[in-house]
Amino acid sequence: MKITEQVEDPFRKQTNALCYFININENPKWLVNIHGRLAETLKQIIKNTEWNEGEIRIINTHGLIIADRIILVGLGNKKKLKSDTVRNTSGKLVKEIQHIGLNEYTVIIPEDFNEILIQSVVEGAELSTYNFNKYKTNKKKIPELFILGHNKNINTIIDKAKKINSGVIFARDIANLPPNDCTPSTMAKISETLTNDKLKCRILSKNYIKKQNLNGIMSVGMGSKNEPKLIFLEYNLKKNRKPIIIIGKAVTFDTGGISLKPSEKLDEMKFDKCGGCVVLGIMKSVSELELPISIVGVIPTVENMPGGSSYRPGDIIKMYNGKMAEIINTDAEGRLILSDAISYSEKKYSPNSIIDFATLTGACIVALGTNVAGFVANDSYLATKLNESAERSDEDIWRLPLNDDYMNMIKSDIADIKNTGPKGSAGTITAAAFLAYSISNNTPWAHVDIAGTAWTQPSTKCRSYNSKGATGFGVRLMIDYLINTEVKN
Ligand code: BES
Ligand code: MN
Ligand code: ZN
Repeated sequence: MKITEQVEDPFRKQTNALCYFININENPKWLVNIHGRLAETLKQIIKNTEWNEGEIRIINTHGLIIADRIILVGLGNKKKLKSDTVRNTSGKLVKEIQHIGLNEYTVIIPEDFNEILIQSVVEGAELSTYNFNKYKTNKKKIPELFILGHNKNINTIIDKAKKINSGVIFARDIANLPPNDCTPSTMAKISETLTNDKLKCRILSKNYIKKQNLNGIMSVGMGSKNEPKLIFLEYNLKKNRKPIIIIGKAVTFDTGGISLKPSEKLDEMKFDKCGGCVVLGIMKSVSELELPISIVGVIPTVENMPGGSSYRPGDIIKMYNGKMAEIINTDAEGRLILSDAISYSEKKYSPNSIIDFATLTGACIVALGTNVAGFVANDSYLATKLNESAERSDEDIWRLPLNDDYMNMIKSDIADIKNTGPKGSAGTITAAAFLAYSISNNTPWAHVDIAGTAWTQPSTKCRSYNSKGATGFGVRLMIDYLINTEVKN
């Protein structure tokens, strides 16, 4: 989306639509600059409308000012104003602009908008025009947005928001790809497109994965002719500085394997790569924003298929960290590939901290629904900082407990651990417990289960900026975290 900042007087601006935000019971100051008939009409409309979130009125100016129309957009109660209100409303506005068929519009930023709210205007506008049209022959036009505002830093804020959006859109675009066009090798090829002076990409092939005893990744990947890969995206690595590691589960299609899933909604299991796509989105934004941190994105990627060479329920495999794991259910595959990715990265990079994203458990949807992601952490500082970023970015997360009782629930009778806990009992936490066994040096670690939030499902709340399909959930959260958290390294 083309977005331009301008310092013009709104009433001198030649534009299709001059758009003002307005709160319930607000008496807008800018009205004094309009006179006569138009002012009267506006006053009437403002008085007679309850300016709830997303309420829109379009007023034709009939040549009384230079702009063709004034559009008023409700923000609801000022006291309850959250950045998500602005993001959602800005998105509703651009959809209206597209609906009327205008090719540009102008948004006036209210004087009291702070950085986060201005950022939200840009996020809402651009993310709402997103639609996955790679496989459509008719593509919708995206209007140009002019922004008028008083904030000195407005250009920097717009630029920052655009770079965050670029990561979110990248994550969505890849996550939405169908499983026939996105295999583990495709994930690897896409990762390579991100490389530049500061960002290096390394890819471990099947043979190397096998040689390195990354048997969790190897076992899950064995059933598919599309070979597994382990991808590393290293950004700004420096000697004597411990990087942050971000890991994402990328199962390009999860059939369940020999423990085959039922066919209902099976097509949605192309979204089982969303964790990995979020990591790609984060790395793209980090590198565009040129953040002054060291960070490594790690993506274990496999296709979980049933077949003559698949791993089986009953198998016992030696994980990369040396633990023997009994396979109870081949559909609990995410924890196997993540566990190896976690132990391998912890050993290779001695990181400052590890955060992983995964569409790990259906149980997370049962526990928290489709608008909040579950998370566990072994470190309260990390948990607090993530919660603060969730609050600011409106990507909601909720911490779940993880103690020895849960760790004991996945002990095996005949091996060290097993890949599922007791049925119907804290499935999200026992999955996290399996991952917790892979941390060996007390590295601060958090695991975010995005099974409910990674793509839109029937119970997903309506947000203008989330189109059908992948949401890119996690990119905005993590970019906020990476910008605002002082990393002690
Ligand atoms: N990818 C699924 C989890 C999932 C299911 C996410 C539906 C979003 C929607 C994961 O690999 C899986 O199959 N988990 C099993 C674990 C069980 C076998 C212990 C599940 O949740 O049923
Ligand atoms: Mn599965
Ligand atoms: Zn899965």
